[in-house]
Amino acid sequence: MNRRTFLKTAAIGTIATGFGATLVSADQYFPTKVDQSLYSNINRVKDKANKTPLEKSHAPIISVPASVKVGEPFTVEVVIGEKLHGMSPSHWIENIELAIGNEPAGRIDMQPKGYLQPKVIFTVVLPKEAAPSGKVTLVAYQRCNLHGYWESSVDVSVS
Ligand SMILES: [Fe+2]
Repeated sequence: MNRRTFLKTAAIGTIATGFGATLVSADQYFPTKVDQSLYSNINRVKDKANKTPLEKSHAPIISVPASVKVGEPFTVEVVIGEKLHGMSPSHWIENIELAIGNEPAGRIDMQPKGYLQPKVIFTVVLPKEAAPSGKVTLVAYQRCNLHGYWESSVDVSVS
């Protein structure tokens, strides 16, 4: 192999390797080998008495007191999955959000390194105007990089 052929081959190999690494990296954030229908809408548990394996591992589970008082802090725990969803560089929970009714209250973003687990506690204080009917709906969302956007909600009495 002469010098010119060597340089040409090395350059093509370097470009191909770099392009391949870019594809792997892009596929990590925009996976193509997954069920694309999970990304086309918000996923919810369809039958609480008969959850699918995907619903069991991805629907947020909200723990909150059945009744709370206006102006007093209370905690809302959101856990992803009946068995805690894994956090690996190829499959992880990107974020967990909490909304009070239709109003976003907060969001936790997580990285795939596995330092954080998909279990968060929000401390909430409701103003009187948040529950004019004496009831409020808390909504939790999460996004899995491979399985899309998921939602669960729970009603809480407010006095
Ligand atoms: Fe997942």
